[in-house]
Amino acid sequence: YTIIYFMFNLILFGPPGSGKGTQSANLLQKYNLQHISTGDLLRDEVARKTPLGVEAKKFMDQGMLVPDEVVIGMISTKIDENPHVRGFIFDGFPRTKQQAIALDKLLEFKNTPISLVLALEVPDEELTKRILHRAETSGRADDTEEVVKKRVEEYRAKTEIVASHYDAQGKVERINGLGTVEEIFAALSAEIDKVILPE
Ligand code: AP5
Repeated sequence: YTIIYFMFNLILFGPPGSGKGTQSANLLQKYNLQHISTGDLLRDEVARKTPLGVEAKKFMDQGMLVPDEVVIGMISTKIDENPHVRGFIFDGFPRTKQQAIALDKLLEFKNTPISLVLALEVPDEELTKRILHRAETSGRADDTEEVVKKRVEEYRAKTEIVASHYDAQGKVERINGLGTVEEIFAALSAEIDKVILPE
């Protein structure tokens, strides 16, 4: 008989401050998935002052999206570096329609498409409140009131439509992102459990 090995690829989608990073940390443990956060990858490049990091910082400090080709290149490398994983959690990517198309192509090539998109829904006032609270300890240059406003604007203008891209594939579940971290984790897990078992 044949053993069918299928990968589970999740996009955790939502505006800045909606809880993508927080929830990814818990989900990757429960489901044994590899976390890929373009924000973390970019901040690492910035900290090491690589040419990519120096260029990206100009956009990040203003709350603007880094150019598509830069992040698509990073994602492609990261996927190739992890050939034997059960699946990926994409956090903060894709953020434009072009990025979504590029990701679909990369995964199609590996015959492991996106399985599910979980979209966290949180109102703008709450996003600002959470991020400004985090600013007290995060040290992130983009956690200021002015930059947060721009990040949310970028999300509404360029990123929100990525959900429609995956709606057309019937893959999006919308989750209320208001509540305790535990409540939201339970709601996300319930959707994942319809597709795979914990490992
Ligand atoms: P990125 O690092 O992706 O940041 P972001 O999307 O702005 O998201 P955050 O990290 O702020 O929020 P989150 O949703 O992860 O929430 P978190 O769990 O931290 O991007 C940064 C920049 O990099 C971008 O502006 C852009 O320049 C660039 N970039 C990155 N990816 C890119 C791409 N693909 N293309 C182009 N450019 C890209 O939670 C936030 C806070 O709320 C925390 O303090 C947390 O403790 C708290 N919190 C979490 N859950 C709850 C809850 N349920 N109730 C109360 N508080 C909560």
